[in-house]
Amino acid sequence: MKLRSDVLSALTVTLGIAFAVQADLGEEPAERSEIGATHAEVSFAGEVLPLLEKHCWECHSEQSAELGLKLDSYEGVMAGSDYGTVVEPGDPDGSLLIDMIESGDMPEDGDPVPAAEIAVIRNWIAEGAAKN
Ligand code: HEC
Repeated sequence: MKLRSDVLSALTVTLGIAFAVQADLGEEPAERSEIGATHAEVSFAGEVLPLLEKHCWECHSEQSAELGLKLDSYEGVMAGSDYGTVVEPGDPDGSLLIDMIESGDMPEDGDPVPAAEIAVIRNWIAEGAAKN
């Protein structure tokens, strides 16, 4: 009986080490995937502009600019409306454009912009609203 429990505890120790080694090995890929998850800068031309086209150009473009707000170019977005700027670089919470979308006021009479798409515009502003 004594022998058997010795074998068992030896097995337990061995297994314990095996698991510990496995856990150690497991750490590295986890760190790597964390680095991989660090997302690249949001591109205005590639990501933000297409969203504005889909949701906003009907009323905010060269053709039809409600309140003088043209969201069909970088210059238009940064120029804002007749009342002033709607994007504050680095400050999405202080940007009227985000406020209007998140409150559901814009697009006027349209389907609300999905949260994942708002996040793209938010991140672009947080990253400095670059012409990228
Ligand atoms: C169906 C037409 C329509 C669509 C689509 C639309 N807007 Fe507007 N927008 C308006 C009108 C009309 C006003 C002015 C009246 C008001 O503020 O409600 C306005 C005002 C605004 C203002 C306020 C400007 C200021 O200085 O007061 C912002 C910002 C804005 N829109 C952003 C957007 C964004 C961003 C989108 C797309 C997600 C969008 N709008 C889509 C019609 C529209």
